[in-house]
This record gives sequence, C-alpha cells and structure tokens, in this order.
Amino acid sequence: MDSVHSQHISVMPDEVLNYLQPSPGGHYIDGTAGGGGHTAAILERSAPEGRVLGIDTDEQALDRVRERLSEYVRNGRLVLVHGNFADLTTIARQTGFTSVQGVLLDLGFSSDQMDNPQRGFSFSADGPLDMRLDRTRPVSAADLVNSASEQELADIFWRYGEERRSRQIARRIVNAREKGAITRTTQLAALVAAGVPFKPGTIHPATRVFQALRIAVNQELEQLTVALPSILDILNTQTINGMRGEGIGRMAVIAFHSLEDRIVKEFMRQEAKDCICPPRTPVCICGHKARLRILTPRPLTPTEQEVEQNPRARSAKLRVAEAVATDNR
Ligand SMILES: C[S@@+](CC[C@H](N)C(=O)[O-])C[C@H]1O[C@@H](n2cnc3c(N)ncnc32)[C@H](O)[C@@H]1O
Repeated sequence: MDSVHSQHISVMPDEVLNYLQPSPGGHYIDGTAGGGGHTAAILERSAPEGRVLGIDTDEQALDRVRERLSEYVRNGRLVLVHGNFADLTTIARQTGFTSVQGVLLDLGFSSDQMDNPQRGFSFSADGPLDMRLDRTRPVSAADLVNSASEQELADIFWRYGEERRSRQIARRIVNAREKGAITRTTQLAALVAAGVPFKPGTIHPATRVFQALRIAVNQELEQLTVALPSILDILNTQTINGMRGEGIGRMAVIAFHSLEDRIVKEFMRQEAKDCICPPRTPVCICGHKARLRILTPRPLTPTEQEVEQNPRARSAKLRVAEAVATDNR
C-alpha cells in the first residue's frame, strides 16, 4: 500500500446527504467507495443500524477504506467488496443488499490514484503508463498505446477525449513507437505536446489524450451504461409504514465529464417516461413504465466555496432520481 491514509476530498458531500437522506436502519450502496468519505458520511447519518455496501474496483482504495472505517467493518455495518459496479446486481445479491434506500456512484478516479505516479494517471510526474483502476485487469495504457492501430488510437482520442488533433497525435505515436515502446507518462505527454504551443491559462495539450486513454483502458462508459439499469433492480420501491416517499430508494451519480454525464442524463430521462415509443407513433406500443422520478431537473454543481477549497470538484455534476413507488404504479 502506498499510503494508509486517503488524501481524497469527497465532492459535494452535503448535497449527496441532502438527497440520499440516509436514515437509521436504511441500506445503502456506495459503488465507488474510493477514499471512503461518502461511505463514512452515510454511515454516520444512518446510525445506529444503517448498513452500507462499499464497492471499489481498486484493491488499494478498498484497503484504505477498510483501515479507515475498520470499526464499521467490525460491527457489521459496512461490507466492502472488491469489484466493479457493472456487476452491482451480483455483488448486491451475494451480500444481501437486494433492496436499498440509496445508491451512490461518484465516478472516475480519486486524488489517491491521480497523485500516485506509479498509477500512471497524471503526466505531471513521471511514472509507468498504467492507468488501470483495477490492477488485476490485463490491459494497461502502455499496452493500448503500443498495440492499437493508428485508426483505433485516433478513434479513442476523438471519442473519449473530444481531441481535435486525434489523427495527428495517433500518427505521431505510431511513428514514435517504431523506434521503441512508449512506457512512461512523461514520454507520452511530451509526444502529444510536441509542436503544440502551450498558452498559459489553457489546459495542457496532453489532458484530453490522458482522459481518453483512461476511459478506454477502464471501459468507463461501458461499465456505467451497464450499471445504471441494474441500480433500478435494487432500489427499494415500497414505502415504509405507508408514509409518502419514506424509504423509497434514490440513486445519486456524480459525473466529471460530459460523456459520462450525458449517459446519466439520458438514462434518467428515459426511465422517468411512461412511453418511449419513437415520436409520431400514434398509439403506445412499447409498454414502458416510468421507474424513476427525477429530483434534479438540472444537475447540481459544487458551490464556489467548495471549488476554491477543492479545485478537483470544479467539473462535478450531481444528478439524483428516486424510484417510483410500486403502490403508485
Ligand atoms: C471519485 S473516487 C470516489 C471517492 C469517494 N466517493 C470518496 O468520498 O472518497 C472514484 C472511485 O471509484 C472507483 N471506480 C471507478 N470506476 C469503478 C467501477 N467501474 N467499479 C467500481 N469502482 C470504480 C475508483 O477506483 C475510485 O476509487
């Protein structure tokens, strides 16, 4: 373990708690336990009996959470699983979290991962070009950079980085790797930045390429797309004691770039509709029933004060939706 203590500052903690409204005895899933900050806050708010299933794809992150929140692990209120939120249904079933009051996904990577040069996420320090959130997975960023075709690399940079110079950068990588494998973060960053005038106040020319590679290596968009519908199957849909809304499951997702936020937005909009037939279909033939009610018509963003204290929060967008009560259907 590189550091026992997490350096990660949780994003929008108050907003997450205000919307998830953890209550004593509730069951919650934190699909991205990370530094354990949100998990800890949910456990505190749901005392004395609330339970949390914490999942992370990074074993190192999970070790830190286990250490930080050992008391909750011991008393059975926190269950930690190394896994991918794309396998949420299976993990939830195996751990008995089959009907929950809240699910949180705080997407992407933590400061612990970003700031550790050995993980290869950042070009500001030299390190191996790795970028795997889950180090048990076989393909690293270096594998991709050194084996994908020029076209595949250009597609990755264009689709996941919205990089306008995608072809040019892919060509440069392919030419460079003929002379020797590209294995270091700074090597790749220098290659991408070569010949591009870097204007102060603008983002570093390698930023988009690094984002794109990270998304591709970890199949981030695919996993999110699989995870979202599976959350619907485990959100509680029964009211408690007939109280309006009480106990009904809520899902909260924090996205950090437009590609993932778009997936979350479209998913929630689709699941909040009673009919998803193509426009101008005279009578509904899809039989689709709304399973969600959107609680944030516009995504919530961090306050200026939060961004000042934690600049990494600046691009965060939080969307929350509530399961539709079965008795309302
Ligand atoms: C932004 S951090 C979460 C920080 C956390 N909410 C906190 O308060 O400390 C994102 C975490 O999600 C994990 N992660 C990313 N994709 C994942 C996936 N598909 N399945 C499970 N965990 C994932 C990363 O390893 C990282 O630890």
